[in-house]
Amino acid sequence: MNAPLSQPFSLPGMLSDADAESAWISVIQKMDETYANLVSQQVELERKNAELEEAQAFIASVLGSMTDVLIACDRDGRIEQSNPAAERALGCPGRDLVGKPLRDFLDPGSHPAFARLCSAALQREGGTDVELTLRAPTGPFPVSVNSTVRYDQRGHAIGLVLVGRPIGELRRAYRDLASAHEGLKQTQQQLVHSEKMASLGRLVAGVAHELNNPISFVYGNAHALRRYVERLTAYLDRVHEGADAETLAALRKELRIDRARSDTPATLDGMLEGTERVRDIVAELRRFSSEQKHAAERFDVTALLRSAVNWVAKAQMQDLAVVFDLPATLDIAGHPGHLHQVAMNLVQNAIDAMTGAPRKRLELHARTEDGRVIVTFRDTGHGIPGDVLGRVFDPFFTTKPVGKGTGLGLSISYQLVKDHGGTLTAANHPDGGALFTLTLPGIGAPNGSKGSTP
Ligand SMILES: Nc1ncnc2c1ncn2[C@@H]1O[C@H](COP(=O)(O)OP(=O)(O)OP(=O)(O)O)[C@@H](O)[C@H]1O
Ligand SMILES: [Mg+2]
Repeated sequence: MNAPLSQPFSLPGMLSDADAESAWISVIQKMDETYANLVSQQVELERKNAELEEAQAFIASVLGSMTDVLIACDRDGRIEQSNPAAERALGCPGRDLVGKPLRDFLDPGSHPAFARLCSAALQREGGTDVELTLRAPTGPFPVSVNSTVRYDQRGHAIGLVLVGRPIGELRRAYRDLASAHEGLKQTQQQLVHSEKMASLGRLVAGVAHELNNPISFVYGNAHALRRYVERLTAYLDRVHEGADAETLAALRKELRIDRARSDTPATLDGMLEGTERVRDIVAELRRFSSEQKHAAERFDVTALLRSAVNWVAKAQMQDLAVVFDLPATLDIAGHPGHLHQVAMNLVQNAIDAMTGAPRKRLELHARTEDGRVIVTFRDTGHGIPGDVLGRVFDPFFTTKPVGKGTGLGLSISYQLVKDHGGTLTAANHPDGGALFTLTLPGIGAPNGSKGSTP
C-alpha cells in the first residue's frame, strides 16, 4: 500500500523498529491472504475439473451406447468427431478419422448425396432420410442419415452433424413389424372366420328346424298316399280279374276304397303345400344368405324380421314368446342379406341373454317416423350392465365364455347398418332387459341406402 502523500518520504532503511515490524506484519498478512485465495481457487478448479470429467464421461457413455452412427464434420466435410458406432462401421479408431474428409469413407455412389448435404448445410438446411453407403471393411454399409447444421456461439454455421441408422437394422425392424402385423391379420381373419362359421352354424340349425316341419308333413302324406295306392291297386287288380259285384262290394268296404279316394286330393294338396313351403324357405335362404355384391334392392323389412326370428329363435328356445308389432309390409331399399344378418345377430344376443331367465319374451316393433324406419328389439334377459353398455359395439368385446362368442356380432352389425345410412344403438329397458334400436332410411329418404357393399 502506498504511504499517504502528506507524510514525509522515508527510505525503508530509515524506518523505526516499530514501523518496520508493522510493515512486516502487513506483508505477512497479505501473503496469508494471497495463499488462502490460491488454495480456494485451486479447490474450485478441482471441483470444476471433476464436473467436467463427469460430463465428458457421461457424453462418452451416451455416444458409446448409441447404435446409430454419429459423425460431426466441419463445413468442408472433414471429420471432427465420431462415436464408437461410427468407428466400428468405418473400421478405424476415432483419432485416425479426425481431419479426414468423410467423402473418402463413402461409396462413390453416395458422393453426390453427400455433396448435396454439405451445400445444404451452407444454406443452413439439414436433411432427413438421405441414404449414404459407408465403405466399411466388411463391405458396403448403408445408413439412413439425418443431418443437422452445427452453429458456433455467434450463430455461424460451422459444420454438420450426421446421425445414420444402419439400414439393415431398419429393414430387420420393418420385417419384424411386418411379420407381427401379418400374424395379427391372420388371427383377426381366423376370428372373423370363426364368427362367420358360428353364424352359419346358427343359420343352418335354424333353417333345418324350419324345413323339418314341411318335410315331415310331406313325408307323412307320402306314406298315407302309398297305402291308398296299395289298396286301390289291390281293388283294381280284382276288378281286372273279373270278380263279381258282390265280392267287389265286400272288398271295397274292407280296403276302405271310398275313404282312400276322398282323402287322396287333400293328401296331395298337403304335399304340394309342404313342398311349396320348402321351396319358399330355400328361396329365402338364397335371398338372405347370398353375397349380395350387387346394387341395393327394394325389400320388405317385415318379412325379413319374421324370417330372422323364425330361423334363430324357434330352433333354440321352444318356450320363447315372440311378439311382432310390425306393419303388414314395410318396404325399404338396401341389401336384404346384410340386414337379415343384423336381425339374426340381435335375436341371437337376445336369446343368449334370456337363457335361464324366468320369463322369455322377445318383442319386435317397427314403425316409420319422419321418413325413417325404426325397429326395436326388446328382450327380458339380464340386460346390459352400465360398464358394458359403452363397449358392446367394440370389435371382439364379449362377456360370453370362451368358445361361445367372438364379440364380433354387434360390431359387424353396426358397420352393416352404418353402410345403409342407418344407426344401431343399445340401451336397457326401464322394466329390465336390453333394448336395441335400429333406424334405417325409408324409401325416398335423402340418406338412402348406398349401392355399394362393405
Ligand atoms: N340382448 C343383450 N342382452 C344383454 N347383453 C347383450 C345383449 N346383446 C349384446 N350384449 C352384450 O354385448 C356383448 C357383445 O355382443 P356381440 O354380439 O358383439 O358379441 P357376442 O354375442 O358376445 O359374440 P358373437 O356375436 O360374436 O357370437 C355380449 O357379449 C353381451 O355382453
Ligand atoms: Mg352376438
